[in-house]
Amino acid sequence: MTEYDVAIIGSGFVGSSLAKYLTNFYSVKTFDVVEQHPSLENQDIEHTILDITDKDTLFQKLGNPRTIIHCAIIQIPKINEDKNLGYNVNVIGTQNICDFVTSSNSTKGVVLISSWHTYGEQNLSGLLQENSGYRPDMVEDRARLYALSKTIQECIIRFFDEKNPEKIFGALKIGTVLGEGMPKGTAANLFIEKSIAGEKLTPYKHSMNRPMLYAAIDDICKASQNFINLILNEKKSPGNSIDHIMNIAYPKPISILDLANIVSETFNEQTNGKIHPEISIVDKGILETGNPSDKDSLELDISKIKTILKLDSLISPQEKIQELVKQKISNSNT
Ligand SMILES: NC(=O)c1ccc[n+]([C@@H]2O[C@H](COP(=O)([O-])OP(=O)(O)OC[C@H]3O[C@@H](n4cnc5c(N)ncnc54)[C@H](O)[C@@H]3O)[C@@H](O)[C@H]2O)c1
Repeated sequence: MTEYDVAIIGSGFVGSSLAKYLTNFYSVKTFDVVEQHPSLENQDIEHTILDITDKDTLFQKLGNPRTIIHCAIIQIPKINEDKNLGYNVNVIGTQNICDFVTSSNSTKGVVLISSWHTYGEQNLSGLLQENSGYRPDMVEDRARLYALSKTIQECIIRFFDEKNPEKIFGALKIGTVLGEGMPKGTAANLFIEKSIAGEKLTPYKHSMNRPMLYAAIDDICKASQNFINLILNEKKSPGNSIDHIMNIAYPKPISILDLANIVSETFNEQTNGKIHPEISIVDKGILETGNPSDKDSLELDISKIKTILKLDSLISPQEKIQELVKQKISNSNT
């Protein structure tokens, strides 16, 4: 079977965006338990239905990729509704992919798409570095299994990196992603949709001041491209597996309330005041975590992606929101 450059496993929001971008530079194939993502229609990217929990089929169907990007996940809320599925996909599936990389003659490495949620999202301060540790308990109850999953995935990746002297097992710890096609339930998407529908933006009081780290999909695409280059072209040097774990998000956090304000003001500017959504804070009687100044004491260390993956500057949440709002207004006018 012939070799190809990149297998993208889990071709949902992030995976399909990566596929669309990386196909400009590499031979790319997508794999998912469901049909190919609609955004990849007409992109001429081969797609194979594959369930990563089924190790034998995974080994048969992946063929000979030189690198793998692992984006398959069971998300919130499904992970809380079907915990066995969550464990099998997020944990066993990740181990199966790592076993494949270990035994494949063609595969030189894998990049896990990980998350800043491994740091937890409460009581964060100071400079957040890749070796700051894992705090999956410092999240809302509904996010605990997800945060545990991402932590376990990263630990599996790191253990394989340590036990394999030649292949790279790495991860990009990404911020909450801003990009076209973002999951419907995310705050950024909800705020944009509500604005265009003429509704109020309704952040929750209990979580509106918590610092959030955001990443533009464009930057994640570039970082993935350069990570693949590194895997393909550089000889692995002995070291600590943390060397292959890299943060990627805009280094200055913003709160959900900031995000609501950014969306509201961007609509106001871009429509000359025709759309200027009101922000109406919803009090659900839940204890508030965080206060407005929390974001000022936190910064994400992105020196690794600057020095190792050669990304000079990152797109700010403000800039990305401006672009997304512009697209939304233009789509709604056509
Ligand atoms: N979207 C974000 O804001 C964000 C933020 C931080 C980290 N991440 C991480 O990025 C990665 C991708 O997230 P996303 O937002 O694209 O999620 P998504 O839900 O859009 O995509 C995940 C894909 O995995 C597939 N999948 C599920 N079970 C599978 C299985 N058994 N075999 C093969 N594929 C399977 C799903 O069908 C889906 O297409 C995840 O690891 C997620 O934790 C995402």
